[in-house]
Amino acid sequence: MSKIRDEIITYSTSVKIGLLTILIVLLWKYLMKLFRRDHRLVTFAETLPGPPTIPIIGNGLDFYYGGVHAMKKVMGYTEKYGHIYRLWFGKFLVVGLSKVEDLEDVFMNSKTMGKPEIFRPFQDYWGDGLFTGPMHIWKKNRKRFQPIFGNNIMGLYTPEFNDKIYKVVDMMKTLLNGPEFDAWDYLPYLSFDIITKTSLDVELDWNDKSVLQFHNSVKTGMETSLLKMLRPWLHIKFLRDLLYKKQVEKVQGSMLKFSQQTIQNKLNIIKDDILRRKNIINQDPNEVISLKSFLTTAYEIQEEVNNEKLMHDEIITMITGGTDTTAITNSFFLLAVAIYQDIQSKLYDEMYEVFGDSDRYADHDDVKRLPYLDQVLKETLRRFTLAPVIFRDVEEDCKIGGRLFPAGTALMISIIGVHFDPEYYPNPWKFDPENFSPEAVEKRHKLTFLPFSSGPRNCIGQNYAMLEMKLTLIALLRHFSFHTTMTMDDIKMNMGFLMTSVDGYKMSIKPRNRKPSYL
Ligand code: HEM
Repeated sequence: MSKIRDEIITYSTSVKIGLLTILIVLLWKYLMKLFRRDHRLVTFAETLPGPPTIPIIGNGLDFYYGGVHAMKKVMGYTEKYGHIYRLWFGKFLVVGLSKVEDLEDVFMNSKTMGKPEIFRPFQDYWGDGLFTGPMHIWKKNRKRFQPIFGNNIMGLYTPEFNDKIYKVVDMMKTLLNGPEFDAWDYLPYLSFDIITKTSLDVELDWNDKSVLQFHNSVKTGMETSLLKMLRPWLHIKFLRDLLYKKQVEKVQGSMLKFSQQTIQNKLNIIKDDILRRKNIINQDPNEVISLKSFLTTAYEIQEEVNNEKLMHDEIITMITGGTDTTAITNSFFLLAVAIYQDIQSKLYDEMYEVFGDSDRYADHDDVKRLPYLDQVLKETLRRFTLAPVIFRDVEEDCKIGGRLFPAGTALMISIIGVHFDPEYYPNPWKFDPENFSPEAVEKRHKLTFLPFSSGPRNCIGQNYAMLEMKLTLIALLRHFSFHTTMTMDDIKMNMGFLMTSVDGYKMSIKPRNRKPSYL
């Protein structure tokens, strides 16, 4: 009896082991199919150096710990493997590039202008807007929006910028001679206020829940898109949906709600603007171009292609692009000049030359008369590179730096790799505005400074961002002097989709003694 029972147990154990083996084999085959790599990519990757990989997931664990760790990894790759290296994320081949001559080929080539397949998670949130949209939509819409951000019309927005900036100056007066605070508690709201006013003509109401929800949603969208991109197990739709579907819907919902409310409230104004533009278009095209017509242009596009979602995608993209970007850079700038008091004194001396001790607002022409401010801001954009890496798709086989790249390769342009390359900046970790003296700039290749990327798919808001940041910094530095207990060594850079400071931007302010340092 017991022998029969033993045989039954042995039999059922064998069946279980057999079934488990079949299951494992099937799962393995499924994963192999899912993560099967294109043999042309594999052959090409074998010609490139790169860190060791794990079967199937490739380098997917390299960025597991994110933040400070990711920053070290990316910098480490360039140090160890040079200007070109390969990484695998599941089936996706990603080639890191940081040699300016190679980047020249990438930025100017229409076959490497699009975003790669691995970047697709970002599309969940920003849809077909400029940042993530497919090439055929991007090409048309970029052309439509480009004149709205032309340097020639930026001066028109100075009054609106100043209006918002001086509200924050007043708010910050309550912090005078007080303890340290975090600049991050103020500056994102200023940037958000400015971009919604200038591009949508909307006055933000901070008591309206949807405003805060929109801001938080953008952050969540960025963070989770990055995870979905770099963690190969999240390339499996089933797992991705299981873990993130609800969150994606929530984030999409709050972004859309904000955009829909805006359109709703502005519908009559938009229609009037469209009429006005039609009437004067034959007289002077420049007259009709104003940043406020961003909203009108987005509306016109949706009418032309009968796609309301596209209009919301463009609005959400523009507001996203214009918010934390300038706020982070301004925060780093103020922290750096709080650390380096000599740089801050030199900045104020230059401003004193232009404004004396008057209270008048700065305008577009004043900004042009402050070359040292330009240098310090550019050094901030280098030393605290906002977008550490950006991605491009090799749509068709093409040559980059004399090497043939097969279609399907994802290019990771390492802007930090360029900005911290000792060949271009001899002492890259030092905060040194002299890196942007006219003599130093003249000696370097123009692509050694890439905060806004380059070529036809660069940052459309570059002129706008520079003016907004300068006007903000001028107003703040004319009213306050900035101080901090932080040192340069205390600043730990957190590499997410945007580079931020792990411990924030702690500073205190005192009233500005309105005299230059030499008096
Ligand atoms: C410090 C400020 C800023 C920096 C450093 C910055 C940097 C960048 C970079 C590097 C890109 C290229 C991204 C890529 O290729 O994946 C980009 C794209 C973009 N930026 Fe900015 N940006 C800033 C401010 C702004 C502002 C103020 C706006 C809006 C007014 C804006 C709107 C956009 C848009 C819409 C794109 C997508 C452009 C396209 O693909 O055609 N950015 N930005």
